[in-house]
Parts: sequence; C-alpha cells; structure tokens
Amino acid sequence: MKRRHFIKNASLTGVGLAVGSTLVGCAENTSEKTSSTTIASSDDKKATLPLVIATWHVKDATAKAMEILQAGGNALDAVEQGCMVEEANEKGQSVGKGGLPDRDGNVTLDACIMDKHGNCGSVVYLQNITHAVSVARKVMEDTPHVMLAGEGAKQFAVSKGFKPEDLLTEASKEAWEKWKIEAKYKPIINIENHDTIGMLAIDKNGDISGACTTSGLAYKMGGRVGDSPIIGSGLFVDNEIGACVATGLGEEVVKTVGSFLVVELMRQGKSPQDACEEAISRIVNKPNSNYKDFQVGYIAVNKKGETGSYSIHQWFSMTKFQNGVNEQIQSDYFNKTKTT
Ligand code: GLY
Repeated sequence: MKRRHFIKNASLTGVGLAVGSTLVGCAENTSEKTSSTTIASSDDKKATLPLVIATWHVKDATAKAMEILQAGGNALDAVEQGCMVEEANEKGQSVGKGGLPDRDGNVTLDACIMDKHGNCGSVVYLQNITHAVSVARKVMEDTPHVMLAGEGAKQFAVSKGFKPEDLLTEASKEAWEKWKIEAKYKPIINIENHDTIGMLAIDKNGDISGACTTSGLAYKMGGRVGDSPIIGSGLFVDNEIGACVATGLGEEVVKTVGSFLVVELMRQGKSPQDACEEAISRIVNKPNSNYKDFQVGYIAVNKKGETGSYSIHQWFSMTKFQNGVNEQIQSDYFNKTKTT
C-alpha cells in the first residue's frame, strides 16, 4: 500500500456526519439501491446504517465489508472479511502475506478482533498463516482464552484448518536484503513501512464490531509485538458507546492504551473526532515526547454513527463506506509545522 501519493491529492474533507442523539427507529431507506437502517436526529439529519470505516486507503476491504453488511450480515463477519482482503493482498507490505519481515527475515503477524458483546480474540507473533484476523476470531470463539502467541498460535491455526505457507514474498525479501546493507538497529518509523489495517463496522441492527491486523514494524527485533493484538491499545469496542482502532507506532499506542482511551472519552461525551484528537494529544504532550519521529493515527465511531480520525502527522487517511459511497477521507493531524 503506497499511501503517500494518492493521499496527497485527496481533498481535506471534514470528518464525521453530524447527527443527533436519538436512535429513533429502523426505517428502511427505500431510496438506496440496497436496504439500510437510519439513525435519525431531532434536527432531521440522518446517519445511515450499515457503515464501515478503516485505517488508510483500503477501498477493496471496505467494499467487501459493506457487501456483507448490505446482505444483512453482522458487523463481526464484515470486519473479519474486510481485513482478510488486505491480508491476502501481497502488494501490501504491512499486513498478512507480503508483509515486511523482522530483521532476521521472519514475517510475524499480530491481529485481534472484538464483537458486540465485548468478546475478543488475539494472535501474537503468528508465522506462516496469512489470515491472522481469522485465527484471532477462532481464539475468541473456540478457546477459553483471549490471546495465543507464536508456535502455539500457529499450531492452533493448523488444527483449525489454516494452511501454513511462506509469507515472505520476493518483493519483501528484496526490500529486506536492501535494508540489511545498512541494517540500522533503531527502527525508522514512517507511514510507508508501517500501516496497520484496522476496521470498525456498524451493522443494520446498530451493533458494532472491530478488527485489526498487521505484520508490525518493518525490520523489528525478533519477538517484537506492537499494539495491534493488545485489546484496549490497538482496538477497543464497547457496543453501548462506540469503537476505536489505531495505526502507527504501537509502542506509543500501548503506553497510552489508546483505543480504550478514545472509547472512554466518547463515553464522557466527546465526539469521535474530539476523542481521537485528545488521544493524540496525550502522546505528543508527554514530557520529552519525540513525536516528530513517529506516526500514530486513530479512527473511531460512536453509537450514533458519527466518525472521526486524527493522526500526529499528515498523510494518514480513513476509508469510509456509507450511503453507497466508498471514500477516502484525509485525516486532520497535529503536526502542522512539518513538511514531508
Ligand atoms: N501498529 C502496529 C504495530 O506497531 O505493530
């Protein structure tokens, strides 16, 4: 996913659809080609369900999720299958097959998923299985645990019928060989090499689920795990309030338990946009924060169908599919002083 260039030309649109506070009904909107549910407000603006949002520019993934939602599927199936699109996309070098390896040449995946009941599943340091998000779902549904790691996660996946395969593509191997020439030990973070796919959906019943999946930081230390499989950091869903998912440097998200923070801020009354901005401010306003050296981005949705996104640096974006429109929305960002 080479995101920088096509984001550059995208218009800076406002994020979020202003709606009021009352869920008044589940009327069928017959003007849509496909049936949908509306959340209406006292001032008559409407947010139409279902809706799906995802980090970065992943229109194929949101289209898959919307296909499921429009057919009456639930948000959990939608976010899983949406994320699977990116996991299978070998051109994307930050997720699933084709993900960039750690410094030893091993592709290791982290993923998690969370449903409307607050159930969750997660896999950490998973090797040789493309669809980490689906293994995470199996952990949630078929085990008494929340998280499986490493060889145990892989053996569990194989026992569930997942086929082991080599995830290191020629392109990623070449990039790794090139990196090894200098092999700078300190990871260099930027949006070209570090893009987690996170997805949040609200189905026609108004129920929320979320998922995220990543190969993590390119050329990371062996064994390194980021925020993406950590419930509350990379992802959090509270079906009464809303949901949030993170992308960027996982270490910084974990230190602030970012996704849980965003949901809690929404619980206190903040809009998804304001909550994402506050969560970013917690990172950049830390004493001695070196935020200029890394990116973090959040997307969020609340129970009313309002959405928000915010990042530290420019060029983060959210893909949103609602009302038949599948669009990339460039995120507002904190660091207006830096030109990239
Ligand atoms: N946000 C993904 C990671 O840091 O691994």
